[in-house]
Amino acid sequence: MDRRVADTPEIDWSKYPLPRVRHHVNSQAYLPASQHHVLQEWYPPVRNSAEWDIWFQNGCQADVLDIGCGRGAFLLRHALAFPELHILGLEVRQILTTWINNVVLGENLKNARAEWYSMANGLDWIAPSSVQYAVYLFPDPWPKQRHHKRRAFSAEFLAMLHRVLVPGGRLWLATDRPEVDDFQRKVLAGSDLFTVSPHLTDDEWPFPFTTDQQMFCQSKDIPYARYYAERRP
Ligand SMILES: C[S@@+](CC[C@H](N)C(=O)[O-])C[C@H]1O[C@@H](n2cnc3c(N)ncnc32)[C@H](O)[C@@H]1O
Repeated sequence: MDRRVADTPEIDWSKYPLPRVRHHVNSQAYLPASQHHVLQEWYPPVRNSAEWDIWFQNGCQADVLDIGCGRGAFLLRHALAFPELHILGLEVRQILTTWINNVVLGENLKNARAEWYSMANGLDWIAPSSVQYAVYLFPDPWPKQRHHKRRAFSAEFLAMLHRVLVPGGRLWLATDRPEVDDFQRKVLAGSDLFTVSPHLTDDEWPFPFTTDQQMFCQSKDIPYARYYAERRP
């Protein structure tokens, strides 16, 4: 993915007032369903299969995953700029996926979808070697050691990404938290499934679509690191 989109069309966001969003959902939603005795209504649906025929035109599978898509600025802009690529966002906060899918409908986007889902439950419902690339941008830091288990990024996360990405497919990463950067790079160093790039410059980062958290960082002059992990064969 080294294509740049100079004139990405922009959505008129004023047509879609954002709902009030609490920063976090119930913290138990970040843990796998197998660790719950009973699944409450606040727990995102556990999937055994995808619903491609409902999510995308012609039942296409996802070419791109936006993991923890948040308010979806990246997902929606990406979908507008690359109509041939089907992008699926996975997000644990239902209010955001409902809002994103409302914009998808309003803009008549055929290639974008956000699903209410906790990454803690894996990606077994996505076919092996079917995703061209994935993005994991500005994940929640969960700074306390005892909360690290709520971070989606782990050796298991890398194994499931390795399964769904095409050989050579990349997981693109960004974070404004040095401790998250260190943590992720340590997990990657302990895995032989991916080759990791150094931190990338603005010119080396191929996506011209800013995310919501990235815009926040830019407005406050907060630095952030970006890099990729490339799936080994
Ligand atoms: C700091 S926000 C960044 C959102 C967006 N990627 C951006 O750059 O603006 C992190 C997002 O990841 C979501 N998230 C965190 N853990 C998740 C999980 N286990 N499964 C799905 N989404 C998760 C959060 O709800 C939140 O919306």
